[in-house]
Amino acid sequence: MTGPVVPPPDPIGLPAPPGLLQGLLVFTFFLHVLPLAMTVGGAVITLASEVAGRQGHGHHQRLARELAAVLPASVAYTITFGVAPLLFVQVLYGVFFFTSSIILGWLWFLMIPAMIVAYYGLYLVAWFRERVGRAAPLVLAVAGLLILYVAAMHAKNQVLMAHPEWWPGRYFGPAAGPTPVLPVLPRLAHAFFGLLGLAGLAVSLYGHRVWRADREYGRWVARSGLAWVLGAAAAQIVVAPWYWLTLPAPIQSRVLAGGLGGGLLLAAPLLAALGVGLLALAAAAMKPGPAIAAGVAMVGATAALVGLRDLVRQLALLPHLPAGAWALALQVGPAVMFAVVLLAGLALVGYLLARVAGELRAPPVPPPAPVSGTAGRAPGPGPAPPAQAG
Ligand code: HEM
Repeated sequence: MTGPVVPPPDPIGLPAPPGLLQGLLVFTFFLHVLPLAMTVGGAVITLASEVAGRQGHGHHQRLARELAAVLPASVAYTITFGVAPLLFVQVLYGVFFFTSSIILGWLWFLMIPAMIVAYYGLYLVAWFRERVGRAAPLVLAVAGLLILYVAAMHAKNQVLMAHPEWWPGRYFGPAAGPTPVLPVLPRLAHAFFGLLGLAGLAVSLYGHRVWRADREYGRWVARSGLAWVLGAAAAQIVVAPWYWLTLPAPIQSRVLAGGLGGGLLLAAPLLAALGVGLLALAAAAMKPGPAIAAGVAMVGATAALVGLRDLVRQLALLPHLPAGAWALALQVGPAVMFAVVLLAGLALVGYLLARVAGELRAPPVPPPAPVSGTAGRAPGPGPAPPAQAG
């Protein structure tokens, strides 16, 4: 490769200090990750509960119904919270992100129909369960695969944008070929099990909440969520080092050299392990205190990983975007307007979340009724499937 592949960043300059924009990118991406966990991991847990429920496990049936009711909202939040990091990534890394998106081409465009079809599928299962009937697991599986496709394309784009040196040889030169799978697969697997663990955490916390009204079911849900967390954590023991090993050696040494990168690399597994331990304690004793502390620790681990992820990208792009390459053309008016709109938007989202939580707040659990043939009912009033240990 001769000469630079990437043109300099936008000569007009950034409208706000780069540090501020990077902070906002990390923060808004973190906000994207929280509902994303429910979308990706929640879809998997719902599908598994749906399948187990078909075999007559009453608790699984009920959990599948309750989780399915949340999924359309979680997809809506995932998509809405994707917009802000998309803006910041374009402002900061436009030359990289646009190029890698163009190289992905149709694979990237296909995300939009994939999201729409998945969204419809989840609505079908949540709102028209009766009509979907026995096809519910199939619809959930298709929706889950489409969501996974979207996640895979995001991961592929992230890998590609951080390696401009691959662009000419692989895509425009004689050695044209697909993006190497190796760095994408562990990155996706690492994200997948992380999101699954967070969804398991959400399920377990939900169990603690339900426990106040329904001891047996609440305990079962809390432990079932914990089982997902433990499974995801066990997978991460293999997947996380695998992902680490695919990072270029200079990036590894920069992170290991200490400072912020080293701190985040240490904090993430420690917080995650602390969270898992506390969650197990909470599920054993059904105590809300350790459950909340577990939630804080695991969300803290996620924040550390989100920060580390951004740092790794900065290090990867350093040869193409040396420090100080961004020019600043401060636009105070738009920056203030953005801050005001951001705060108003966050307040609105908070209000909407409170409304959604209110809507989903379990109405007093209907007493179990020995009714046969109720599988496939829409959530709502009426006899619930018989409650039994799953
Ligand atoms: C069901 C829908 C979605 C799924 C499953 C999904 C999944 C993901 C995943 C797994 C990542 C991390 C990729 C990685 O670092 O390897 C990611 C990043 C990202 N997502 Fe989404 N996403 C969805 C929807 C959206 C939408 C609709 C937008 C934009 C409107 C969006 C914007 C972003 C952005 C900008 C990033 C990267 C942020 C950065 O560069 O730091 N996502 N998404």
